Amino acid sequence: MRGGWSGYRFNREDSYYHPWYNFKYWGKKAWAGAIAVVVLIIVIIIIIAVEVTKKNAYPDYTKLNYSLAETYSGSSFFDNFDYFTGYDPSSGFVHYVPEAQATSLNLTYASSSSAVLRVDTSVGPGANPDASTGRFSVRVSSKNQYGLNTLFIFDVIHSPIGCGTWPALWLTDPANWPYNGEIDVMEAVNVVSTTYNQMTLHTSSGCSMGVKRKESGKVLATSCVNTTNDNAGCGVDAGSTTFGADFNSAGGAVLAMELRTAGIRLWQFGRNSIPSDITSGAPDPSTWGEATADFPSTDCNIGNHFKNQSIIANIDLCGTWAGATNVFGETCSGSCTDYVAKNNGSFADAYWEFGAFKVYSAS
Ligand SMILES: *[C@@H]1O[C@H](CO)[C@@H](O)[C@H](O)[C@H]1NC(C)=O
Ligand SMILES: *[C@@H]1O[C@H](CO)[C@@H](O)[C@H](O)[C@H]1NC(C)=O
Ligand SMILES: *[C@@H]1O[C@H](CO)[C@@H](O)[C@H](O)[C@H]1NC(C)=O
Ligand SMILES: *[C@@H]1O[C@H](CO)[C@@H](O)[C@H](O)[C@H]1NC(C)=O
Ligand SMILES: *[C@@H]1O[C@H](CO)[C@@H](O)[C@H](O)[C@H]1NC(C)=O
Repeated sequence: MRGGWSGYRFNREDSYYHPWYNFKYWGKKAWAGAIAVVVLIIVIIIIIAVEVTKKNAYPDYTKLNYSLAETYSGSSFFDNFDYFTGYDPSSGFVHYVPEAQATSLNLTYASSSSAVLRVDTSVGPGANPDASTGRFSVRVSSKNQYGLNTLFIFDVIHSPIGCGTWPALWLTDPANWPYNGEIDVMEAVNVVSTTYNQMTLHTSSGCSMGVKRKESGKVLATSCVNTTNDNAGCGVDAGSTTFGADFNSAGGAVLAMELRTAGIRLWQFGRNSIPSDITSGAPDPSTWGEATADFPSTDCNIGNHFKNQSIIANIDLCGTWAGATNVFGETCSGSCTDYVAKNNGSFADAYWEFGAFKVYSAS
């Protein structure tokens, strides 16, 4: 006390007549000290208030009025896509084939009820040429690109299974990655039985999900920025049996992804819990309850980070994720590329089967 109130000289006599707490007897220094303390308290209160407000900040996801813009379905399903044939950007052990070859090898096939995209099973170790430089697979990218105020409904009947596989159903602007963003709707690696589906965003700098969110999935990481953690992205684990054998034996699921200024939300609905407004063709996310993965705009400007998104479906093999030694070794053994080159018979379940994709837009 003495040191703190140094403006006042303390002695027994004085303290009787001039008690320290009586501000009438305070000197200039005591006043200055008192004011400093009050100012400090106010600053602390403001900082706490700002932090609490930030922590509770949450965007406004009020109802948007969606109407059907496009349907990808039936035997013309793949007509809406370009076939990617370049060197795999994810360093996979794969040769992505052009449309004609995909059709002749039956790696893409669409009927009135579904569309299939698969990994080649025909090229074995004795074939000429063999798969020693990579196995045939497919990566398709929608010709149309999408932006804000879009709701996507993906009917997924079968998810790919197999050691070495890295399948994904996702969206990006391949020519402007990571600046125009990436949204992974379904993704998993080396699935030998069943696992969780990982929903993830990847962006350029300035996009974090370390904020208030409303979701049932489990947060795996909060920085979406591609330079963080080797481009792992801000992933959400959608829950057990959301990818692989159990998912497939249940007939798959319907996934919804809403892209809007307020945020990006994804839902994964099992066959028995598809909202009736989806089935009836008038989807309204505001009635669906908590999302599986919620990526709010609180600390990420969604409009700036996500533009010109194409829908992409592919099955990569090995590469930077599935082929990483420690990752491959979690469920499979040996070398990923060796396995993929030699075990053509093991890719029978390495296929996507899709029902319709529907794209809704709101003005
Ligand atoms: C959606 O439509 C309703 C009914 O027509 C209207 O009241 C509402 O303002 C619309 N919402 C938006 C965001 O346009
Ligand atoms: C191509 O694949 C589809 C889907 O798996 C299958 O139904 C069809 O019989 C296959 N066609 C040929 C010629 O193998
Ligand atoms: C695997 O490759 C071998 C040799 O090329 C071939 O005989 C066999 O039919 C292939 N397996 C499948 C499932 O296509
Ligand atoms: C992140 O994106 C930048 C810009 O394109 C690129 O130079 C960098 O290699 C990327 N890093 C990773 C790990 O993806
Ligand atoms: C989006 O694509 C359009 C047309 O292809 C192009 O003109 C525009 O520059 C692109 N926008 C961004 C932000 O890349």
